[in-house]
Amino acid sequence: MEVDSAYLVPKYKTFRGEIKLRGDKSISHRVLIFSSMCENQETKIYNIGFSDDINATQRILMQLGVEILNENGFLKACGKGIYFDEPSDIIYAYESGTTARIFCSILAPQKFSSVLDGKESLRRRPMKRVVEPLKKLGAKIWGKDDASKLPLVFDGVSKFKGGVSFDLSVASAQVKTALLISNFWSDSPVKVREPFISRDHTERILPSFNVDIRSEAGYIYAVGKPKSPGVIMVPGDISSASFIIAASVLSHNSDVLIKDVSLNPTRLGFVEVLKNMGANLKIYKTGQEIGEDYGDISASSSELKNIELKGDIIPKIIDEIPILSVCAIFGEGVFRVRDAKELRVKETDRINAICSNLRSLGIDVQEYEDGFSFEGIGNSAYHKFSGDYLLKTFGDHRIAMSFFIFGSLINGNLYLDDISCVSKSYPDFLLDIKKIGIC
Ligand code: S3P
Repeated sequence: MEVDSAYLVPKYKTFRGEIKLRGDKSISHRVLIFSSMCENQETKIYNIGFSDDINATQRILMQLGVEILNENGFLKACGKGIYFDEPSDIIYAYESGTTARIFCSILAPQKFSSVLDGKESLRRRPMKRVVEPLKKLGAKIWGKDDASKLPLVFDGVSKFKGGVSFDLSVASAQVKTALLISNFWSDSPVKVREPFISRDHTERILPSFNVDIRSEAGYIYAVGKPKSPGVIMVPGDISSASFIIAASVLSHNSDVLIKDVSLNPTRLGFVEVLKNMGANLKIYKTGQEIGEDYGDISASSSELKNIELKGDIIPKIIDEIPILSVCAIFGEGVFRVRDAKELRVKETDRINAICSNLRSLGIDVQEYEDGFSFEGIGNSAYHKFSGDYLLKTFGDHRIAMSFFIFGSLINGNLYLDDISCVSKSYPDFLLDIKKIGIC
C-alpha cells in the first residue's frame, strides 16, 4: 500500500453546531420493502436513507415490478402485494447483508424461480442461518456448500408450510425479520425466539402497516398482510450519528446537537456504553413515527474511562464496536470486548480489522475468537501519535469512518487506503464532518 495513492485524513480540533442525518438504514430497508408489499396502495416515504445498501434494496424491488418514484423530497412506492413480477435478470444485492437475508424470505415463496447474488464481500458472508429455517418451511434453495453462501437459486414454492417455531442460535435482526415476514406466505404461524434481543425495527414498524406482532412464551410471529400507513418519515440514522457523537466527545471545546435521530432503545447501546465510560451525552425524545422513537442527542467534549463489554449489550452495539474501539484509545484503562464473534462475519472480519489497525498504531492488542482487549492511552493519545500512519479500511465503511475520526484528532498524519466505501451507509460522511468541524 502506497501513501501516494492513499487518502490523508484532514485535521479537526473542535466540532460544533447542529446536524440532521439521512434516514436510518435499517428502518429504510424495512419501510421500502413493506411499502412495496401493500397491494395497490401508495406510500410516501420522507427522509429515506439513500446509500449504496438502500439503493440495492430499491433496485431489487423495481426489478420485481414495484414502481418507486423519486418525487420532490420523498419516495413514492406503489405496492404490488406479496407476490411480485418475475425478474428478467439475476437479483443483485451488491454488498448489503440485510437486503440479501430479507430477500431470501421474499424470493423463496414467489411463483417464479430466481437467482440472488452479490459482490465478493457479500458472497463470503454466511447465509445458512436464513436458508436452513426457510428450507424447514418448504423453501427450495440451492447453492454452493449446501446453499450456505451466495449465489443462491430459489425455486418459487408460492407458499410456506408454517407451524414451526425457531430458536435462533445468533441474535440476528436480519434472520428474525426474514422469519417474521415468512408469515405473509404461510397459513399457520412461523414463530421465532432469539437468544438476546437484536434490533426490533420489524416488530415496531409492522403494526403501522396493519400487521399484528403476537408473542407467546417468548416466541413472536406476525399476523396479517401489509397495508399502507400512507405517509412515513424515517428518523435519522443512529449508527451514522455514532461517528459524529464520537468526534464531538473526543475533541476539545466541542458541542454538537444531532436532530431528529432514531432513539430506538435496541439501537442506543452505543450511547449507553459511552455514557458509562463518562461521556457528556444528553437525549431528548421529541416524537414517535411508525412505532419508532426519535429525538435529539447532544454530545460534548468528555474524558473517558474504559470498560468491559460482553453479553446482551453486544447485539445493541454490534455496528458501533469499531468506533467504540477508537474512543477507547483516548480512554483510561483496559477496554475489552467479548461475545462478539458476529463481528468476524460482517462486511469484513471486524475483529481482525480493528486489531490489525491498532497494531499498526503500535498498540498492544489481545485478540480472542470473540473479541479483543487493549489498554487505552488516555489524554496523551493526541500527542503520542505524531508520526505518519497508513491504515487499511478493508473496504468496510464502519472501519473507514472510525479510523477517520481517530486520524482527524491526532497530531500525526493518518492515511487510509480507501475512503469511498463510506457510501455503503453514510455517503454524506465527509460533508457532514466538514460542516461541523473546525480546524
Ligand atoms: C441489521 C442487522 C444487523 C446489523 C446490520 C443491519 C438490520 O445485522 O449488523 O448492519 O438492518 O437488520 P445482524 O442482524 O446480522 O446482526
